[in-house]
Amino acid sequence: MKTIKSMNLEGKRVLVRVDVNVPLDDQQNITDDTRIREVLPTLKYVLDHRGKLIVMSHMGRPKGKVVEKLSLKPVAKRLGRLLQQDVTLAPDCIGPEVEKQIEAMKKGDVLLLENLRFHGGEEKNDPEFAAALAALCDVFINDAFAVSHREHASVSAIAALKEDKGAGFLLIKEITYFQEAMDKPKRPLVAIVGGAKVSSKFGALENMLSRVNKFIIGGAMANTFLKSMGYSLGKSMVEDDLVEAAGRLRQRALEEGIKFYLPVDAVVAQDLDPKAETKIVPFQEIPDDWMALDIGPASSLLFDEALYNAKTIVWNGPMGVFEMDAFSRGTLSMVYSVADSYALSIVGGGDTDVAVHSSGQKDRISYISTGGGAFLRLLEGKPLPGVEALGGSVILE
Ligand code: 3PG
Repeated sequence: MKTIKSMNLEGKRVLVRVDVNVPLDDQQNITDDTRIREVLPTLKYVLDHRGKLIVMSHMGRPKGKVVEKLSLKPVAKRLGRLLQQDVTLAPDCIGPEVEKQIEAMKKGDVLLLENLRFHGGEEKNDPEFAAALAALCDVFINDAFAVSHREHASVSAIAALKEDKGAGFLLIKEITYFQEAMDKPKRPLVAIVGGAKVSSKFGALENMLSRVNKFIIGGAMANTFLKSMGYSLGKSMVEDDLVEAAGRLRQRALEEGIKFYLPVDAVVAQDLDPKAETKIVPFQEIPDDWMALDIGPASSLLFDEALYNAKTIVWNGPMGVFEMDAFSRGTLSMVYSVADSYALSIVGGGDTDVAVHSSGQKDRISYISTGGGAFLRLLEGKPLPGVEALGGSVILE
């Protein structure tokens, strides 16, 4: 896979796919601009090498329609501030108006195309839509790790149409950290897996069976494993159709000599309500009409101890419903345990990176991925279409 460093950009129209799908509040303020900051090295590199910089991204899921709330206007403003230069927002991502704007660009100018997903062709990986995007540039760079698991036109089909294509610095960094953690890791390698549903992480757990030394399981998905061990869990969320499979997976892990940690206590409530009365109980004592919504303090201590000798940690998924203060302590405590460790620590995006950012501990974690779904895809051992389209791969030995 070629990288941006080996490409001649001087005077060229350089189209960079980024993922600046950032969270916005009700007033259209960006509440976390990490994804914009993370692509600055690539964008600055294009500008420093006197390219004409054309940036494209999606935002949200407008499903092929123009949704004003999902315009990239706030991103254009923030990007301008961060680059300290004017960033023009195009009225669309393809079409004669955009072509005219690009024709008028000088070296070192920046144009941000409007939300790609305002066109249905983007998510359909439509060759015509991809061709219209490809016609806008001389060089195509993919720096959008977080959407590289999608077979979309601006990530996948476009690459087949361009001779001059390569990876940006963020895409390379994401892959490099992932490989460092999972390919030939310093051991013990500990995988912390949380979140609500074991169904969404099953593939990742199975793929990691042959790689990790310890599993630490938290979040509601732990309930399904605990049910397979015969615990009664009251009203707690359990995926009943996966109880047997979860039991088998745990058994396989034990046969492989993997240490398999499950929570031993829980913060429980009668309802999923931030104001609900809560109590802390061992998993053996969850009352019938209560539910587990976070791991308890004894589990946090246990997990902290299990992390003590870790040399590599990969973490994906929160320990409880951390969006509500009453059920956030288990996840926060895990952030501190990972931050305090001496291990190379890699945290997958999605909910987990929100928890790390809000804890103020992000500088004490080795690497926080910008990808949620893309990171999970890598943990599942599956290829990323966006990387393959550039002629690369992230296959582990
Ligand atoms: C993400 O936020 O995970 C990426 O931007 C991908 O978004 P998507 O799940 O809507 O494809």
